[in-house]
Amino acid sequence: MFGNTVRRHVTISRFFNAVSNERLSSVLVGDPFCRLRTQRPVFQRPLTSTTEGIQGVTIRRGRIEDVPGVWQLSEEAMWNTHQDMIETLFKMCENGWTVAEKDGNVVGCCLTHDFNDDLTTGGHFIVSPKMRGYGVGGQILRNIAEEYGERNIHFSSISYMIDTYERYNGAPLSRGDTGGKYFGVFKDIPLPPDALRKYHLSDLRQVELSDLIEYDTSFHVVPRPEMLKIWLGQTTAETLVLLEKGKIAGYGSIRPAMNGFYLGPLYAENTIGTLVLFKALVDLIPRDSNVDFFLPHANEAGQLILKANENTVGLYDTFHKCARKSYIPVLKWNNVFALLFNECGLC
Ligand SMILES: CC(C)(COP(=O)(O)OP(=O)(O)OC[C@H]1O[C@@H](n2cnc3c(N)ncnc32)[C@H](O)[C@@H]1OP(=O)(O)O)[C@@H](O)C(=O)NCCC(=O)NCCS
Repeated sequence: MFGNTVRRHVTISRFFNAVSNERLSSVLVGDPFCRLRTQRPVFQRPLTSTTEGIQGVTIRRGRIEDVPGVWQLSEEAMWNTHQDMIETLFKMCENGWTVAEKDGNVVGCCLTHDFNDDLTTGGHFIVSPKMRGYGVGGQILRNIAEEYGERNIHFSSISYMIDTYERYNGAPLSRGDTGGKYFGVFKDIPLPPDALRKYHLSDLRQVELSDLIEYDTSFHVVPRPEMLKIWLGQTTAETLVLLEKGKIAGYGSIRPAMNGFYLGPLYAENTIGTLVLFKALVDLIPRDSNVDFFLPHANEAGQLILKANENTVGLYDTFHKCARKSYIPVLKWNNVFALLFNECGLC
């Protein structure tokens, strides 16, 4: 059944080409969405600390030329991304990057994105290992707090950083759901024998984008058409849509990472649909490839898959969804198998 809709060999060679090509590629030509984005003010500020390590560090707005520097930081922090993915995030969240620069090198970064006047999300907070402990990260957080004032910001905190974020927030954080960043090889997908019968899998190009955006909004709550067009439009990404009686019942996307592949988002209406979609996406990549994704702990299919692959899959860390003021729950959170990207939205 999958053979009708998924061109496995073409896809695999496209993925391999992308993985082996570390040059900065142009993901999309032009940007039809710039008009819709609000411009945040440009800032550039040297730090005044007398601590030796931080001297000469400037905190400024990130720009597209910073993609290799931010990717290097992600690599140093062992976050399994790909330079293409970082470039895509720069396009999705134009003006969203704050970077710390020293001697022409990016030594720290953080990403925020304004979906609308009420929803801002943040993440990708990294300082280069050789610069940690000097106050660079603290200054990035203070800059963001100053820039956003009292605004509510949603983010996912790695477990050990919650107390620090709470201190910087100056008030208790509003806490939401938890999830884990998992990675490993998924060899066993526990599909019931007749699971495939009621579904059809389709390539993204065969589905009306407006229908997909509407389906995505039923999960994410706030519509994110521009973000989706760029994320799913990344040339190395493969996206499959799950159809049940002609209606969208799920969708998922997978793309190359530094080590293997990154999966996200993956949303579906129920456990069986999630398993069908996950298997189809994993079938697109070379056997025994590593897959990374952010899994909400509430997802039933996720728990089944983790159990079936406990010898080959590991947990990087647990993350807690938080907001500076009030956490907006995602109604279909239990049906979220993989977030689009931890830093770029509610799910
Ligand atoms: C988290 C990180 C960005 C901090 O950068 P940094 O430049 O070392 O931070 P600073 O020296 O400015 O310290 C800022 C605050 O963070 C706290 N902090 C730093 N590392 C911490 C850690 N591992 N655990 C808990 N708190 C930590 C410091 O105690 C400090 O708090 P204080 O100002 O109240 O004393 C950096 O350690 C890093 O890149 N870590 C790996 C990536 C990561 O985990 N990112 C966060 C994901 S949610």
